Amino acid sequence: MLRLQPGRLFHSNLGKVQHDELIDLPYGTTVFSHLGHAMLLLEPSLDDRMTRIKRNTQIIFPKDAAMVVRRLNLRAGSRVVEAGTGSGALTIALAWAVAPGGRVYSYEIREDHIQVARSNLEKMGLLQHVDLHASSILDGFYQTDVDALVLDLRTPWIFLKQARRALRPGGFFVSLVPTTNQVEQLLRGLEETGFADIAVEEVFVRAYKPVPDRLRPDDTMVGHTVFMLSARPIVDPEDKRRWLSEERKRYEARRILDKRIAEEELKRASQAPAEQKTYPRLP
Ligand SMILES: C[S@@+](CC[C@H](N)C(=O)[O-])C[C@H]1O[C@@H](n2cnc3c(N)ncnc32)[C@H](O)[C@@H]1O
Repeated sequence: MLRLQPGRLFHSNLGKVQHDELIDLPYGTTVFSHLGHAMLLLEPSLDDRMTRIKRNTQIIFPKDAAMVVRRLNLRAGSRVVEAGTGSGALTIALAWAVAPGGRVYSYEIREDHIQVARSNLEKMGLLQHVDLHASSILDGFYQTDVDALVLDLRTPWIFLKQARRALRPGGFFVSLVPTTNQVEQLLRGLEETGFADIAVEEVFVRAYKPVPDRLRPDDTMVGHTVFMLSARPIVDPEDKRRWLSEERKRYEARRILDKRIAEEELKRASQAPAEQKTYPRLP
């Protein structure tokens, strides 16, 4: 990606090009380096903006960021809280979605990460839509009544009370974790803290070789990246279990029944076999 500036020279392994030759050319124009190699002048996409940044952390892939934006229900004008900022890749996608008129409030505990993220956001021309907070979210969020909140850090389940306090009634919550062990902990945390409409998802994108006469999928694809958990806060969470999914309730009912059967079997087994009692059938 290039920011065109008068008088500058673009160097690449295909040769050099003067920025002045490119300024004011329409996107989609073919240009030639001093070695005669052809290059296509293209507008950077959101994917380019997210992936061509300096990284000092694992970053969120564009395929996952697209789903985050959808699950957070973001649009121009939305107010969204994010933690941690990391290198700012997801922040770029969030700012892209809420501009103009919206705001991203991004929290990061490490000052060195904040600096990298700030510089990345500035280069992508999106810093004006973002407030960067250099603090731990263990101390909570400064904002309340936000439309949406996303956690991308190692132990999201310990910050769920803070997240609930920041979200507006009806707000949207998402968290991203790479392992199933974390998913399990986060699911338990969401159930206990008062979140409903809980979903666990993964995003797979399969590209095709764009050959009309021999259309088939690429040989390789990106495998696992993250699990995405989304949920909605319950405003009056007295009876949190009421809003568990039907699947979860069925499992809970079955678990209670299994426990009763196991207890009854243990009781019968411990009684003297000589008694030869007849019992009612176990359920
Ligand atoms: C996986 S990285 C986030 C990557 C980011 N989403 C991106 O796409 O570039 C996780 C970040 O959370 C930060 N973090 C961890 N605990 C935190 C806390 N309690 N408060 C704020 N940030 C925290 C870490 O320092 C790290 O930079």
